[in-house]
Amino acid sequence: MTTSGAIGLPMKVVSPDLPPRVRIHEVGARDGLQNEQSVVPTEVKAEFVHRLADAGLTTIEATSFVHPKWVPQLADAERLFPLLGDLQGVHLPVLVPNERGLERALALGAHRVAVFASATESFAKANLNRTVDEALTMFDPVVSRAREQKMHVRGYLSMCFGDPWEGPVPVAQVVRVCRALLDMGCDELSLGDTIGVATPGHVRALLTALNEADVPTDRVGVHFHDTYGQALANTLAALQHGVTTVDASAGGLGGCPYAKSATGNLATEDLVWMLHGLGIDTGVDLGRLSATSAWMAGHLGRPSPSRTVRALTHQEQ
Ligand code: HMG
Ligand code: MG
Repeated sequence: MTTSGAIGLPMKVVSPDLPPRVRIHEVGARDGLQNEQSVVPTEVKAEFVHRLADAGLTTIEATSFVHPKWVPQLADAERLFPLLGDLQGVHLPVLVPNERGLERALALGAHRVAVFASATESFAKANLNRTVDEALTMFDPVVSRAREQKMHVRGYLSMCFGDPWEGPVPVAQVVRVCRALLDMGCDELSLGDTIGVATPGHVRALLTALNEADVPTDRVGVHFHDTYGQALANTLAALQHGVTTVDASAGGLGGCPYAKSATGNLATEDLVWMLHGLGIDTGVDLGRLSATSAWMAGHLGRPSPSRTVRALTHQEQ
């Protein structure tokens, strides 16, 4: 695929109130592929991760060590992870829900893990078969052991803004679980808008409430799904608040099999277009990244939902 020549890059107009650099936490291979109807062959996943690294992404969430019956799309984690062993200078975090998952990740030499909590009881039950507090109890020994092993631990928190069963989620409820994850020893948090209902004012209110609970912004990343087309606006609000870690998914792949109203994540290409236009460095080569997403869309048999991928690679609507 080729890019569209003269309009292959955004015009750069620097915004001095924004951070000079953003770290993109790429989740396409995990959040993206966990939600596909078809199971993508392991070799294709490995090539996908290599191509993402070639495009300049340095944090690429590779897979999950969850129960294979819960997420069959990622049941090949043991076969995939060793195929990524040649990647230099790239962090490859993996999801682990419990001690069994951590054992599997440790056996393969993973250096970064993520636990994934819920701000709501309904999603904790659907996604982890636990209450919110039971899930925290399940994560506690995982985080302790991972830290003993000098691993970097991310704590996801889902349903930070709205929940398909419970509706709008009170900010205080979210802050409580964020605090618990940090107190447990997580190095960073990722605030999940799992079903993509957040709007920028809500994002600002949550980040402010977290600061008031002594959660510093430099420990917080944002993870927006794009169901209502708000993900980029929400990201800009987070950047204005000082957030410098943004999760995104190449080509806008994604969703959560245990939250039916979840659609794809913010597309990495759409994010990079905005960041580069704002003069914010990401280290990503947008042309290579879009070509990768167009290639993956070919494997999945449908066009990428990312507007930027379509514009740069002339994919049919
Ligand atoms: P459970 O059924 O309660 O499991 O599921 P259990 O603890 O009762 O164990 C039952 C059996 O499963 C045992 O085997 C365990 O060994 C085995 P048995 O003794 O009966 O033979 N088992 C495992 N096997 C392999 N790997 C494991 C594992 N754990 C237990 N890790 C469990 C509880 C947590 C396992 C299950 O609920 C689960 O796997 N859930 C994962 C769901 C998931 O992956 N969801 C998507 C990721 S979250 C997300 O996408 C949101 C995010 O993107 C942020 C956002 O957008 O908001 C991160
Ligand atoms: Mg997600």
